[in-house]
Amino acid sequence: MKKLNFLLIFLALYATGIAAVKQINRVQSFNQSWKFTLADSTMNASSVSFDDNNWRSLNLPHDWSIESDFGKDFPATAGGGALPGGLGWYRKTFTVDIKDKEKRIYIDFDGVYRNSEVWINGTSVGKRPYGYSSFQYDLTPYIKFGSTNVIAVKVDNSKEPNSRWYSGSGIYRNVWLTTTNPVHVDHWGTYITTPKISASSAEIAIQTTIKNDDKSLKTVRVEQTLYDAQGKVVNKVDGPLYVSPGTSHQYLQSITVDKPMLWNIENPYLYKLVTRTYVTGRLTDEYTTNVGIRSFTFNVKKGFILNGKRVKINGVCNHHDLGALGAAVNARAIERQLQILKEMGCNGIRTSHNPPAPELLDLCDKMGFIVMDESFDMWLKKKTTYDYSADFAAWHERDLTDMIVRDRNHPSIFIWSIGNEVGEQWGEAKTEDMDLQQANVLLNKKKEVSAAEIRQGSLGKNALLTKHLVDITHGVDPTRPVSAACNGTDDTNPLFMSEALDLIGFNYHESEYAGITKHHPNQGFFSSESVSALQSRGFYLMPSDSMNIWPERWDKPFSNPLQKCSAYDNSHAPWGSTHETTWKIVKKYDHIAGQYIWTGFDYLGEPTPYWWPSRSSFFGIIDLAGFPKDVYYMYQSEWTTKDVLYIFPHWNWKAGQTVDVWAYYNNADEVELCLNGQSLGKRSKTGDDLHVMWRVPYAPGTLKAVSRKAGKEVLTKEIRTAGEPVNIRLKADRPTIAADGKDLSFVTVELIDKDGNASPLADQLVKFTVEGEGAIVGTDNGDQNDHVSLKKPERHLFYGKCLAIVQTNGKAGNITLKASVEGLPTQQILIQSK
Ligand code: GAL
Repeated sequence: MKKLNFLLIFLALYATGIAAVKQINRVQSFNQSWKFTLADSTMNASSVSFDDNNWRSLNLPHDWSIESDFGKDFPATAGGGALPGGLGWYRKTFTVDIKDKEKRIYIDFDGVYRNSEVWINGTSVGKRPYGYSSFQYDLTPYIKFGSTNVIAVKVDNSKEPNSRWYSGSGIYRNVWLTTTNPVHVDHWGTYITTPKISASSAEIAIQTTIKNDDKSLKTVRVEQTLYDAQGKVVNKVDGPLYVSPGTSHQYLQSITVDKPMLWNIENPYLYKLVTRTYVTGRLTDEYTTNVGIRSFTFNVKKGFILNGKRVKINGVCNHHDLGALGAAVNARAIERQLQILKEMGCNGIRTSHNPPAPELLDLCDKMGFIVMDESFDMWLKKKTTYDYSADFAAWHERDLTDMIVRDRNHPSIFIWSIGNEVGEQWGEAKTEDMDLQQANVLLNKKKEVSAAEIRQGSLGKNALLTKHLVDITHGVDPTRPVSAACNGTDDTNPLFMSEALDLIGFNYHESEYAGITKHHPNQGFFSSESVSALQSRGFYLMPSDSMNIWPERWDKPFSNPLQKCSAYDNSHAPWGSTHETTWKIVKKYDHIAGQYIWTGFDYLGEPTPYWWPSRSSFFGIIDLAGFPKDVYYMYQSEWTTKDVLYIFPHWNWKAGQTVDVWAYYNNADEVELCLNGQSLGKRSKTGDDLHVMWRVPYAPGTLKAVSRKAGKEVLTKEIRTAGEPVNIRLKADRPTIAADGKDLSFVTVELIDKDGNASPLADQLVKFTVEGEGAIVGTDNGDQNDHVSLKKPERHLFYGKCLAIVQTNGKAGNITLKASVEGLPTQQILIQSK
């Protein structure tokens, strides 16, 4: 009966043209059941017979650095997150079925930090220095079919500092095993573009690389089927291709879509293209690519135009760490970050300063973000002692090409960045910056003389290097503009002099944005990085209209026993600005396509303006735990159309204090503030104001704000003085999660008084235990100065909040998280793993 039902459903789906059941599963997760150890450089664990019995068992993705307590003496320094690096080995023993002996077997690493080398059954298949590149190795020649095989991976992150932020260490992204027939779509083997788009139709151009690993010439039928978001067939094409043995060929086809649904940030519509290859009627491969149809330009006068409409890029820069999870990739943790940003009205992500996890780009495609995909933080000129500059000459072409080939089908990507604030803006690399011999080979390779060179006599090596990188990028994808995030903004910057950049990106220097077209009359402009305001969530320095520029100058030492920064928008780094200053400028001028604010989320490392004992950044609009700082609501009031009224700070002060109360609001023409029923007056934003303020003599009680439009109430907000805490409040972002061994529930902890008011200053220690089908995989509170390992199942509250991250173990059932605080009744929350 069951079989009959299945057959009927299958036939019904087939008849309606709904996507047929997938027949070939070429990619499998290869994350489970690895062995791991930290070691020194004398260990060689590459051989099959090596005894790894005493090693730790774990599943990937894995970041060993995040497991430690923070410490001031780790060579990564506070700038790198004050956590240990080191050298690690991973091994996995697996069997390959004898029935696969005609197949090709590949291993795919999405990212290993850093200097990895991989062995299969004792043979080295390759090395990869750059910790952010994805790479594949062909294991086929070394595989023992019908028997056990051993893969060994050495990861060397022992030479630190090598990064200006926290990198993490280990196989921190996903690993996949790809099994194909001899005739198959090659690695990253499709390239989809949309050369013609109108309201009535769109043309989708498909370039497919087909590989024939068989011993004879093959006639391959390449069939392309486009499905809509409901899985209905939109259109289909196919054609024959002859592929000689041991070669690969590119095949060009195109599909027409009538009345295309366009991809945009409100409705990021995705089609799905399935490429199927057939040899003598037999299906040999099935390969899926998401497709977004959208047109765009960067206009010199009007900024960014998406599908014919002007869109301001209201974006943020983020580093790759996921707070308490460290660098270990988790799709739900990334999705949560993007949801919090979307809720604020943010529509753009810059992957500062390296190729991101593929999951981030998939989510940006699905959720509608405008991505700037960035390759490097340095070229030949180093920024930290052991960084990638030493590998740049030998590897940049490969790393840059791979990033673009991997990522060029993502509709969310609109800008390629060839680098961030590279030292080449100011001078040639010096001997100590690089392997000179290699660098000269690289730089002298450029023989072509461009029009710009002829005009300017001769261009320096750095301009040539810029052009070389732009050429590589255009060569792989000419459909998107290439930019670089520049902080040397004058015309003598060799990156600008190269005249190779399609799009001008300035970091900071917001006062120069208005007049930018004078200097760059032919290129679109955006702020590739802005603001660098400094804030600790929940901490305020008054008066709020006094400015704290910390440090005074970038090269002047700074310290302050507070070890915190003010969460009014009155604190920033000297090269940056307040949030309000830059947004007023970006908002005002149409020719500014938008900005990527430094940063959306706090990240581990770079605790500017401080150094140890701080170990994570103050730059985020949202703290490391994912709790918004107050300025989040300024952006929400500006970047969304929903009604916003937000007042701060909290209302637990000392008698006699004068407190500045700020309100962010929109969709109203005034806000009235009352303390214990007494009006403190109405305030309205005038000119380009982004907030209103009252200076209030503190008295405990209730602070109430009402926003009104034309006399009619829009919103009200109340903050009450919290009394002694009597209980714990737990709130899960999602009470039900998938029983897939990966999904997460983020649980926020607060202490509440007898009336349910959360205590804004609570700093008690919360201890967690978990029962059932899950585990605690991280805890955090957003405090930049907390030195306890983010893996420990306990955490102090920081300005009234902390977070526990709970992960399913893969089985369906209940997970109970218990939280206890001395002197208060223990509380628990139920999470279902389904
Ligand atoms: C920028 C740099 C970022 C970060 C930021 C901090 O100059 O590009 O990586 O260091 O400063 O303000």
